[in-house]
Formats: sequence, C-alpha cells, structure tokens
Amino acid sequence: MPLQVLDHPLAFHLLSHLRDKSTPPEQFRVLAENLTTLLVLQATYPIRTREVMVETPLQTTPGKVLGESLAAVPVLRAGLGMLQSVVRLFPDVAVGYIGLERHEDTAIARSYYSKLPCMDNRFTLCLDPMLATGGSAAQAISLIKAAGAMHVTMVSVVSSPEGVAHLQERHPDVNIVTGALDEGLNDKKYILPGLGDFGDRLYGT
Ligand code: PRP
Ligand code: URA
Repeated sequence: MPLQVLDHPLAFHLLSHLRDKSTPPEQFRVLAENLTTLLVLQATYPIRTREVMVETPLQTTPGKVLGESLAAVPVLRAGLGMLQSVVRLFPDVAVGYIGLERHEDTAIARSYYSKLPCMDNRFTLCLDPMLATGGSAAQAISLIKAAGAMHVTMVSVVSSPEGVAHLQERHPDVNIVTGALDEGLNDKKYILPGLGDFGDRLYGT
C-alpha cells in the first residue's frame, strides 16, 4: 500500500521547528498538534461519505456527511501528542491505547498496555510520531487488527526508510501517511536527521 509524504509549505514549516533542538516542550506540543492536523486530513481523504439533503435557512440542498466511523489508537507515550488533533477533527472518534517501550540497547519494543475498543467497520488510525525500526508500529498494528480493524492507516511525523520497509513487509495492506521520509537510522536506531526522542521533547523529560 502507498506511502504518502506530506508536501505542503505549512508541513515543512512545522516540521523544521519540531526538528529544531531549541524548541521548548510547550511550543513542541502545539507544533506537533498542528502537524498532526495536516497528517490526519491526508490520512482520512479516502473515508467514505454519505449523501444527505440539508435545509439551509433559504432552501434545500444536497450535501455529504461522513459515512463511516473513525477509531484512533495512539501508541504511548509519544502518540498521545497526536491524539488531541484527531479528537478535535472527529469528535465521535473511538479511542484505544497501546503502550510500547523500546529497550534502550536493543531498540526492541515491549508491550506494557493495551486497551482497545471494538474496531469492526471503523476507519482506523494508528498514531505514533516516530517510525524508526518500525518494530513498534508493526506490533501496534497487529494488536489493532486483532481487535477487529480492517482498514488501518499508520500516521507518523517522521519515518525512516528502514521503518517503512519493515512495516510494509509485516503489514502490506496498511497505508502510511508521514510528515517526512528521513535519511536512515543511527547505531542507536534513532532517526537521522530526525528530531530526537519525541516523547522526551513533548514532555520535557
Ligand atoms: C518511540 C516512538 C515509537 C518508537 C519508534 O517510543 O514514540 O513508539 O520509539 O521506534 P521503532 O520504530 O524503532 O519501534 P519509545 O519506545 O521511545 O517510548 P515513548 O513514546 O514512551 O518515549
Ligand atoms: N523514537 C524517537 O522518539 N525518536 C527516534 O528517532 C527513534 C525512536
């Protein structure tokens, strides 16, 4: 399935400020929310609509409303920084949570929490800002599919080519929408040039 990389001047602007190491957490959070809004607009482009008739104060006119429900699953912790934008755009979204933490030395993600709603027939977004080795995203999407989701889109702020390849191999049916496709990983499996540790930058840890 396709990889879509945002190509919008505002996305470039927001991402450059997110990458900047001098950006403090309070600004980082706002930038992350705004960039996520652009990502989610792109990710939900294929969502189905339904025709309706609307009564304006002057006459009746045909219109469209959303024809399917949404689910969003942020991967803790860093994915929480993307959730508010989704809730604002889609107030009736069903939200699940998956806790994953990469081991400092091996970079292998360990699952420590999972609470997912029924996602049958929901257009589902997995929210995790950093797609590095792709191990966390692949695990999260396996859990999401096990909870019934059929159409999953991975939404990330920055991705590495290695992470994209890994996710496409493990879940070839999943769309990936990302803010940037970076150069690669360093020996600690951090994305280069990347933006550092997203969770730490979000929460100032
Ligand atoms: C970060 C990030 C992803 C993961 C990406 O989380 O938020 O979940 O690493 O790496 P991967 O593609 O190599 O699996 P981390 O494990 O640092 O936890 P945190 O969100 O609690 O900081
Ligand atoms: N997690 C992050 O927060 N940043 C990276 O570059 C890789 C994993």
